[in-house]
Amino acid sequence: MWKQTALTRQLGLSVPIIQGPFGGGLSSVELTALVSEAGGMGSFGAHHQTAEQIMQTVRAIRERTRQPFAINLWIPQADSERLQLDEAAFAQYIQPLQPFFDELGMAPPTLPEQFWPPYAEQVEAVLAARPPVFSFVFGIPSPDILQRCRELGIQTLGAATTVDEAVALEQAGVDMIVATGFEAGGHRVSFLRSAEASLTGTFALVPQVVDAVKVPVIAAGGIADGRGIAAALTLGAHGAQIGTAFLACQQSSASALHRQMLFSPQARYTGLTRAFSGRLARGIRNRLMDALQGYEASLPPYPLQYWVAGTLKAAALAQGRADLMALWCGQSAALLRETDAAALMDSLVAQTGEILDARRTGNG
Ligand SMILES: Cc1cc2nc3c(=O)[nH]c(=O)nc-3n(C[C@H](O)[C@H](O)[C@H](O)COP(=O)(O)O)c2cc1C
Repeated sequence: MWKQTALTRQLGLSVPIIQGPFGGGLSSVELTALVSEAGGMGSFGAHHQTAEQIMQTVRAIRERTRQPFAINLWIPQADSERLQLDEAAFAQYIQPLQPFFDELGMAPPTLPEQFWPPYAEQVEAVLAARPPVFSFVFGIPSPDILQRCRELGIQTLGAATTVDEAVALEQAGVDMIVATGFEAGGHRVSFLRSAEASLTGTFALVPQVVDAVKVPVIAAGGIADGRGIAAALTLGAHGAQIGTAFLACQQSSASALHRQMLFSPQARYTGLTRAFSGRLARGIRNRLMDALQGYEASLPPYPLQYWVAGTLKAAALAQGRADLMALWCGQSAALLRETDAAALMDSLVAQTGEILDARRTGNG
């Protein structure tokens, strides 16, 4: 009974469970397809990919599943404009990171030509590849793009961190909304006010969004087991989007070190920081996060800091140094049990059913 909602009917899913997309190369074709084959919807975060790579990703997912899946992009914000920096200003910006470059024995990075592939090219690739769902964060695509999605039969899924953002997404004609509370791992994807001014928890946000819009609402943030899904559905959501618990599975593209850290006692302590990317995001508190806390205002803006921290991460990873890299993680880490995505899907479905079926028959 609980398995059929406005979301599953709209998308043709068997269960109202979405595997949230991961940016920064942490998504995988295998994980996306596995979740879709298991009756939920897998998502692939493609904001780091070129147009050609996006086309290849969609082809590869289609080879593995005929079920619905989502391709996810980041809508450009004011801070994504090409930074007008010379080498001297760049060197000044990355100065606070010098002790860590020294510690890892690496040369400081030089200013890149381009940080990420242009969004305009990425979104054209998404339209050309025609995935069943185009999901996005940090804003709303232009009316023209949304209109072309409708013409092509691509459903759209936007993310809101506040009720105002949810209403704006619905008014723009977006088909479904992820209401994402501050418990979630990764970036706070706010776009109307600053991320710091948009910190609502899932429990408060979801019912308010459900009351404010008519389109299907998906709860995200802090959900890692059947209890969380049952709670989300009880709050009026039509589905649950889960990130951290899928990131911890062997099928994600997270490094073994990152996945190991998600199961560590340290993962019970997460923090929101701008230090790892220039935008507010949640990860495991580690030495790098603590050391940069006082510098957040003077660190480079997004995407420069994201890119610089990425070069540091590559060196830290090669040396097995979890203390010097961003370890994205939500507040649900202590709930993680499964390391295999198929087993996770089975247990999510079974546990949600046990709770909601027991409630229906009065045995709860
Ligand atoms: C490492 C990581 C990367 C993420 N990248 C993206 C992304 O690129 N686009 C997006 O829409 N959501 C992204 N998210 C959010 C997830 O898709 C999902 O909504 C969120 O993790 C749900 O909260 P939870 O971590 O508490 O389960 C990311 C989350 C994590 C942990």
